[in-house]
Amino acid sequence: MADSTNVLALETPILPVLAQRRSPRAYSPQPVPPEALRQVFAAASSAASCFGEQPWRYLVGAQATSPEAFAGILASMGEFNQVWAKNAPVLGVSIAKLTFSHDGNPNAWARHDVGQATATLAIQATELGLQVHQMAGFSPDKLRAAFSIPADYEPVAVFTLGYPGDPASLPDGLREKELAPRTRKPLAEFLFEGAWPGLAEERYDQAPV
Ligand SMILES: Cc1cc2nc3c(=O)[nH]c(=O)nc-3n(C[C@H](O)[C@H](O)[C@H](O)COP(=O)(O)O)c2cc1C
Repeated sequence: MADSTNVLALETPILPVLAQRRSPRAYSPQPVPPEALRQVFAAASSAASCFGEQPWRYLVGAQATSPEAFAGILASMGEFNQVWAKNAPVLGVSIAKLTFSHDGNPNAWARHDVGQATATLAIQATELGLQVHQMAGFSPDKLRAAFSIPADYEPVAVFTLGYPGDPASLPDGLREKELAPRTRKPLAEFLFEGAWPGLAEERYDQAPV
């Protein structure tokens, strides 16, 4: 069932699944069925990538089936993320292969492509009633050591995956954040047709007269 909590409301309508995707901190303990996990990562594999390299790799730890990996990923996170991420049924790491396989040269687009794959994964997850919360608050070195990640590969982000839970289960502070209205920059702040406008001019153009 689609997550109806804190759906993003934009002036311009977008696909419902995009508006429903959010980064929750409250998770239900309900395990993620293996078939749903497969679908989520199959969705990641559908993303476009430079030279078709598919530089993304994912490390997954599920509380129910791979608790040691779960603990290893959790331990790499900052305390501020651990406090809520520990209740998610599944933790993951997105990893970029930093060189092209066809010639060994550096792949400057590897992280871009990993981000695309993870965005696609998150949308598929939302469609299945799951949610993903990506995090930069982790130590790549801890992950590298815990999972013997080779030098040519770089942990990009960690994330939680699971069915959203009751915001009331969160500690003070996080509970309010969970339900705080979600906002986005207006298109005029990031969409420049024809030329790169100075921000000041842009604001002037937008000012009420
Ligand atoms: C690369 C990346 C790193 C993030 N790092 C963290 C983090 O360390 N801790 C956290 O609570 N949220 C983190 N977030 C979640 C963002 O705060 C969240 O996506 C943003 O506020 C928009 O909210 P929404 O995803 O619900 O639309 C991160 C998101 C991304 C994409």
